[in-house]
Amino acid sequence: MQTKFGIIGLGVMGKSLARNMASKGIQLSLYNRFEKGVEEQVAQRFIADFPELSSAKGFEDLADFVQSLERPRKMLLMVKAGAVIDSILEKILPNLSEGDIIIDGGNSHYHDTEKRIKYLAEKNIHFIGCGVSGGEEGALKGPSIMPGGSKEAYQFIAPYLEKIAAKDKYDTPCCTFIGTGGSGHFVKMVHNGIEYAEMQLLAELYFILRHGKNKTPNEIADIFSSWQGTHLDGYLLEITVHILRKKENGDWLIDKILDQAGNKGTGSWTTIAAAELGVPITMITAALFARYISAFKKERVQADQLFQLNHFNKNIDLNIEQLKNAYYLARITNHHQGIHLISTAAETYKWDLHFPEIARIWTNGCIIRSVLMEELMTILQKTDRLIIHPYFIDFIKKHREDLSTTVGQSVAAGLDIPCFSAAINFINGYTNALSSANIIQAQRDYFGAHTYKRNDDPLLKSVHTDWSS
Ligand code: 6PG
Repeated sequence: MQTKFGIIGLGVMGKSLARNMASKGIQLSLYNRFEKGVEEQVAQRFIADFPELSSAKGFEDLADFVQSLERPRKMLLMVKAGAVIDSILEKILPNLSEGDIIIDGGNSHYHDTEKRIKYLAEKNIHFIGCGVSGGEEGALKGPSIMPGGSKEAYQFIAPYLEKIAAKDKYDTPCCTFIGTGGSGHFVKMVHNGIEYAEMQLLAELYFILRHGKNKTPNEIADIFSSWQGTHLDGYLLEITVHILRKKENGDWLIDKILDQAGNKGTGSWTTIAAAELGVPITMITAALFARYISAFKKERVQADQLFQLNHFNKNIDLNIEQLKNAYYLARITNHHQGIHLISTAAETYKWDLHFPEIARIWTNGCIIRSVLMEELMTILQKTDRLIIHPYFIDFIKKHREDLSTTVGQSVAAGLDIPCFSAAINFINGYTNALSSANIIQAQRDYFGAHTYKRNDDPLLKSVHTDWSS
């Protein structure tokens, strides 16, 4: 008997998704490559380990795997993004039939996804670029799923993906057809960008509280935990509370973790995409570059000794209420910037995206799920420029000073809080009719005759000045 759905690649995510699917009664074919002495009988051994997989079939021969699937075949690729995907596609192609569907569930670059969609469409094979968020636990218990590509193909895979997805508060699956082309992977990429800044804001709050207000990790956990159940709540806040309470042999584990952040690339892709599309996602970029600065540990240690700035010897005059408001305001700004990027990409690439629906599938299962995201489901029905929504205008007007004071006091004390700083600079710049760009235009015209426009010319003609006279 043929099976309903195939999974290629049994790493952590592939395995968790397989168990999730099998536990929903989906009959699976599972494939993992054979590498002598390294990866042998991976699928068979995995099936033997979990009772829910008893009806699954394991393979290490790609042709046999393909033949075991009911047509049109539905196969989920859970392998490393990049060249590995193309190499599997080349190997699997001769075995496929018209109308078969391949879903790439990894963090692939959206341009690569676009190319693969076109390439496979010429062979009448559907390719779906599908963001999957939630890490190992999400994959097992219910991730947020962002499929994009052919809508026709989506109809065939929807029942499977929707079965395994997390459910929102109305019990609707956190899985929706995002749009055509590489939009699914683009939206997942920006999800990760927003994730970078959300993580960095919590790291900066920790830094202020720990080193600017001399709080212990447990006291900081108490403060963060008092924000749970309020408008500030979210998955990242919740895990940070757990992280801060974790002890090892009586010591805080956090104190033993090297302060050097890694990354797998989606933050830099988001930054590059935003630079190309002309969208100021300053907070995501600040969060990315904060990770890069952290990576220069050896140089930082040397410079610390050279400068002797005594960063941590002050008690910053900030109260928790100010920090709380600064945090919420910065998060609104981060989400504003991320949504702005998605909406510009949608216009540029002609993707018909539905922002309230994107927010909805981000309310559960994914890493950036939060109470704010639930508020965005409604707010995005009115505008995709969040900070000009009356609800946020009101909050920003009331609490902008809490953000600027947080940044001012912390920076003056010698703490680096690039993400909060980016937030207040963005708010100040975006809400000011006047910018300093007249100087930039004059400079460009001066040295390069790039021309400029005049604010006393209603036709906005491009003009040049002879600056030598
Ligand atoms: C998710 C995560 C997931 C992964 C990121 C982390 O949504 O489940 O974003 O995709 O954890 O790749 O990215 P970095 O390694 O770049 O921090």
